Amino acid sequence: MPDTHRPTGTHHHASVLVTGAAGSLGREVVDRLQEHGARVRCLVRRHTTRPRPGVEPVIGDLTDPTVLRDALRGMDAVLLLWPLLDSAPAHELVAELVAAAPRVVYVSSTAIDDEAAQQSDPIVQVHADMEVLLRDAGLRPVVLRSDTLASNARGWAAQLRAGDVIAGSDIARTAVVDERDVADAAVAVLLAPHDARPTLPPYVLTGPEVLSRADQIARLGAVLGRRLSFQSLPADLARSRMLADGRPERLVEALLAASANRPESHRVTDHVERLTGRPAGTFARWAVDHVADFG
Ligand SMILES: NC(=O)c1ccc[n+]([C@@H]2O[C@H](COP(=O)([O-])OP(=O)(O)OC[C@H]3O[C@@H](n4cnc5c(N)ncnc54)[C@H](OP(=O)(O)O)[C@@H]3O)[C@@H](O)[C@H]2O)c1
Repeated sequence: MPDTHRPTGTHHHASVLVTGAAGSLGREVVDRLQEHGARVRCLVRRHTTRPRPGVEPVIGDLTDPTVLRDALRGMDAVLLLWPLLDSAPAHELVAELVAAAPRVVYVSSTAIDDEAAQQSDPIVQVHADMEVLLRDAGLRPVVLRSDTLASNARGWAAQLRAGDVIAGSDIARTAVVDERDVADAAVAVLLAPHDARPTLPPYVLTGPEVLSRADQIARLGAVLGRRLSFQSLPADLARSRMLADGRPERLVEALLAASANRPESHRVTDHVERLTGRPAGTFARWAVDHVADFG
């Protein structure tokens, strides 16, 4: 467990590259870095419809080393998100990181079992492999192992517009964390002055309560004033629905493997508070703040 505490000051003039910057977590990180006055560069796959003033976009794919070389030029720190299902293309990325030598903050998964030779499912395996790759390259990454993000609940919005039952594959209970807390924690680490730089053991960022999907949907219903329920679908039916929704086959199989094999986690930590100075927020709080996403 990390023995470091919240950085006592922040390095406001840092230049930070954010990958996955258009995603749920990345967007929150970019907002906060800007609020802190950092220079922010975003790696995104395509121009977003709403370019943000003051943010430098770099358009390209994470797996393209030439894009990364350009994106890393002049950056003090990088928030590395690796939303891919394969760590093999990361070797070239790691070589670019070694050459550019920024502070590296990697968002990983709380589902990693440090004792296991093989992880429960491909998504967790990729994060475990990425941690090893970054460490073995001598990059001394600060690893933030994140629990399931509350923002995944946005995936239920379309079904909620059609009715009161959310149907899908279930997954073991875990301490769902508000992505804004993970973003605050990431920014604290990215902007920490050098002498307050956190040391190595991974941070484990969880929310305050262990929740099932049914628990989350019940809390969402309470906030929306609706009696919502969750229907757990067998794998075959969940697979055909996800494929019909246009999700890539490999992702669908990875999600089904997570559903079948990921063990329940009861771990609730205070690492969000250690890094941000505030306790992690509840899922109900997240739901209150995101009612508009379910309109
Ligand atoms: N969600 C969770 O519960 C959870 C839990 C633990 C850890 N994490 C990790 O946290 C990170 C962020 O999660 P999230 O939920 O915010 O993800 P997200 O909303 O799906 O965002 C991921 C972003 O990465 C971009 N991206 C995907 N493949 C890319 C590629 N090859 N090159 C460049 N950009 C690429 C996507 O771009 P487009 O907009 O172009 O698709 C998207 O904007 C992920 O790495 C995930 O593994 C997530």
